Amino acid sequence: MTSRKCCTDDFSTLPWRLRCMCIFSILLGTLFIVLLPIYFFVGFGLNVKGFSPLLVTHDKNKHDWKPECLKSANLMSLSLVDCFPETTFVTEEQCVNRGCCWTANMKTRESAFRSLCEKQQSSLVPKCFYPSNYGYHVSGKVTSFYEGFEIPLSRIPSPSRYGDDIRNLRVRVERQTFYRLRIKFYDPADQRYEVPDPQIPANPAFEFYNTNRRQAPLYEVTYNITEVPFGIKIRRSNTGSIIFDTKTAGFTFSNQFLQVTIKLPSLHIYGLQEDGKMIYRMNQKQKPSTESSRFHPMYMCIEENGDAHGVLLFNSNAMEVEVYSSPLLTFRTTGGVLDFYIFMGPSPENVVQQYTESVGRPWMPPYWALGLHLGLYPEQKNANLQETILELHRKQIPMDVAHFYLGFSSKDFDYSHLKNLHFVQLTKQIHKKHLKITLNLSPGILSGQPSGTNPAYDVGIERGVFINSSWGHQPLEGKNWRGKVVFPDFGNSITQRWWVKNIENLHKEIKFDGLWITDNTPTNNVDGSVNGCFRDNLNYPPYIPARKRQLFDSTLCMDAWQLWDKVRHQYYDLYNLYGHCMSKATAYAQKVLFENKRSFVVTEATSVGTGSYAGHWIQFNFSRWSDLKVALPIVFEYGLSGIPYVGIKLCSRNPIQEEDLWLRWFELGAFFPLFEICFTHDDLMYIFYWELSKSFVDVLRRVTELRYELLPFLYTLFHHAHTRGTTVVRSLVQEFPDHSITSRINTQFLWGSSLLFTPIMEKGVNEVKAFFPQGLWYDYFTGERLDIGENGQWKSLRTSLYNITRPVNLHLRGGQVVVNQVPANNTAFSRRNPMRLLVALDRRRTARGDLFLDDGETLDSYKSGDFLYIIFTVAQNKLVIKAHQVKQAFLTDFDQVYLNQVTIYGLPALPPTVTINGGYSLTRRHLMWNSNFKVLQIQHIIIPVASVAGKTEISWKWN
Ligand SMILES: *[C@@H]1O[C@H](CO)[C@@H](O)[C@H](O)[C@H]1NC(C)=O
Ligand SMILES: *[C@@H]1O[C@H](CO)[C@@H](O)[C@H](O)[C@H]1NC(C)=O
Ligand SMILES: *[C@@H]1O[C@H](CO)[C@@H](O)[C@H](O)[C@H]1NC(C)=O
Ligand SMILES: *[C@@H]1O[C@H](CO)[C@@H](O)[C@H](O)[C@H]1NC(C)=O
Repeated sequence: MTSRKCCTDDFSTLPWRLRCMCIFSILLGTLFIVLLPIYFFVGFGLNVKGFSPLLVTHDKNKHDWKPECLKSANLMSLSLVDCFPETTFVTEEQCVNRGCCWTANMKTRESAFRSLCEKQQSSLVPKCFYPSNYGYHVSGKVTSFYEGFEIPLSRIPSPSRYGDDIRNLRVRVERQTFYRLRIKFYDPADQRYEVPDPQIPANPAFEFYNTNRRQAPLYEVTYNITEVPFGIKIRRSNTGSIIFDTKTAGFTFSNQFLQVTIKLPSLHIYGLQEDGKMIYRMNQKQKPSTESSRFHPMYMCIEENGDAHGVLLFNSNAMEVEVYSSPLLTFRTTGGVLDFYIFMGPSPENVVQQYTESVGRPWMPPYWALGLHLGLYPEQKNANLQETILELHRKQIPMDVAHFYLGFSSKDFDYSHLKNLHFVQLTKQIHKKHLKITLNLSPGILSGQPSGTNPAYDVGIERGVFINSSWGHQPLEGKNWRGKVVFPDFGNSITQRWWVKNIENLHKEIKFDGLWITDNTPTNNVDGSVNGCFRDNLNYPPYIPARKRQLFDSTLCMDAWQLWDKVRHQYYDLYNLYGHCMSKATAYAQKVLFENKRSFVVTEATSVGTGSYAGHWIQFNFSRWSDLKVALPIVFEYGLSGIPYVGIKLCSRNPIQEEDLWLRWFELGAFFPLFEICFTHDDLMYIFYWELSKSFVDVLRRVTELRYELLPFLYTLFHHAHTRGTTVVRSLVQEFPDHSITSRINTQFLWGSSLLFTPIMEKGVNEVKAFFPQGLWYDYFTGERLDIGENGQWKSLRTSLYNITRPVNLHLRGGQVVVNQVPANNTAFSRRNPMRLLVALDRRRTARGDLFLDDGETLDSYKSGDFLYIIFTVAQNKLVIKAHQVKQAFLTDFDQVYLNQVTIYGLPALPPTVTINGGYSLTRRHLMWNSNFKVLQIQHIIIPVASVAGKTEISWKWN
């Protein structure tokens, strides 16, 4: 009625009230007509994945679901998962509102905590925990396919914790090999983000698999379709122990919060993180940071009987892991799918082999990379680079690499301003001395320069190689110490080509041999971008792992755009991959540049599979006594993650009067695969190590020489890592997993399975307790024998601060043969020096060892056959040296190298007759017997390494 009247001409005739209503409704209509399109336009314009409203609907009143909470009496025995991980300051009301269970009785909680502490010196029982009826249930028929099956799941109706729960899921189980299993929880209705790199092949090439192809699976997968909530169990077939069980309450699969708790067979878990942890074994409630650069979602667990298995959660979103003493392990991730790979071992080494088979075998470093790296700052005031290098030579400390930290340049990849510093001449001289050069690169490209002055940026913009901001078409701008920067998008193939070009340009100026890539988390000096970040649910997700303030703190906005194989992704999903992609792109650029020579990349940020392209360094801001103890567990963890080329950078940053501290650092750091010493760029503390006492320099020299002496062995270990995936620096538990003591040892380490190092890590200490597992062990320097019984034994070892005859505690394991080589001022010369064999007999008087040799730099020398592989076996009083692969072309490099000494540890008495190749009997001149330690040294012999192509035998007799 009113509306009809509104439209009549005689509007003015209407009563005052009606007139008002008319005006009002017209206004309303206009508003509606004008605003609706705007709303839709803007809405659709922003309707990228990230822009759904921030509203979280708690529809808890819709269900008659009630949390089933366990009685407090059961607290101790049960597996309780934290239902309020955001904070420890949760109130009962908050907890109950969320549909969780509250540990009402504080006393019970505390006593539960205490008794757990006593039992396993471990964690807290959460105050607010998940009810037992939370999760998913089976909702349909199980479908089978070749080597696997799928189960449909539905969510048990209950209040949503972080919103946007996926109601229907599927779990897919693939029995990929008899030792590898994949379990993937995914949303059948939506293709969610999955990690694009590395691509894990379903069909393995691992020799262990091919020779055992018919073997029955090492696992059994079980589930109970009527049980609620649903869980999947994996049992080790031969022992029956359950190694993986997801039944524990708390399983959540929502859009931005995915959580799964795994019941573990034991608390002996290893891996996952780098952050300052002194114990290698994780036995505390821990929240490894989301800090992408340092986190690998892979753990290894050692079961009660010493069998080991590994689990990878293949997911690259920001996440956290929490370990409860129950023992439980909770993964919480903010996106993607829950894609698990389970590696059945059964030995810890098998786990690493199976893991690296999936994610990529470690990269083979060039031989020179195992030498000493010397860090130098060309632009430092008073930095006399040449003098520094010369001084190292004068002090007769071997070195192989000059690592230059290049400073500010207003043009990326352009260091022409260093010409004033005679830098180019210097690099030429360095190469003449057979040394190598490495440089530092960080990903940020300067964007604030006048146009036309920074070609890397200009070309980059033209080709669209940078990570774009939320709007999708403009590079995201951040900041580093040089100024405003943009970030190359390394997953994009156009960016990769652009990166190759830039690295080629850099190489035209400075003839480097390798690159260190830093700040590639990527780090950003402003949070998100110079313009901040949008308030959307990627930047402000409902759950932020590891109690970080914001996910984008010191890095990029989560809704920044990247390309991967032409598919657009957001940084939110690729969160952990930047360092990985940059490593891959940098290794590729060197491959283009060096053609068939090996690349050298050391990266700050790593993730799953990065070991195939790069190594990693550990840096301590202060090299304190406490840091000394942390370094070793970190090296172990990278080893587990398939990144064996790891080590420390020792920079004289501390007050130098702590000479003993430096000495202990060197005695440890010199035996990590990567070893660099450098000098601070802080002028105030610009101190050379050799300004310390003469005895200090003597030990530094001796320790470095010892490293060089052992390089042929270390290189062989890298060959095995590269081809078979075994570890290089190994923890005791990795080699002796069935021993109850080894799991607690973080202060000793092995090289392969042969050499045991026992460094000293405490101030003012000259004696250290070392654990020796069963068998025979020999002092590396003297041959003194330790005969260790079944249970292993602790021994006290003396190591005074300055003892150049015995600078470290080093033992050789019975049953092993190790090759060493006379050291020289760098590897180019040491590789031509005589080699020596150290034979350590076991109780049956047998031993075994091997040696891999090639030219040290040719890419894939193993594949092309350009190498020499020698196996040494000792049995029945005979040493057999047999080469297994020789290519004539390669031999010329080594026809000058001789084996000129064989030392045998563990003979009962001096054998009167020692013959070579059955005929030639050695005379007194060749034999030296130490009756004290029962060591036989066969010396002044000449066995050309190149000619062992046939077979050389050395035998000894007592009659
Ligand atoms: C499966 O679970 C149901 C319910 O919890 C239980 O009654 C049944 O015994 C279980 N079946 C097996 C084979 O364990
Ligand atoms: C970023 O924007 C540029 C220019 O519009 C475009 O060429 C490039 O493909 C974009 N990259 C991504 C990842 O969106
Ligand atoms: C140095 O080590 C050697 C070999 O173990 C030992 O004989 C010597 O006594 C040690 N010297 C000192 C000063 O401890
Ligand atoms: C390194 O040693 C080799 C041979 O031993 C020698 O020829 C060379 O001059 C030495 N280099 C330096 C820089 O001392």
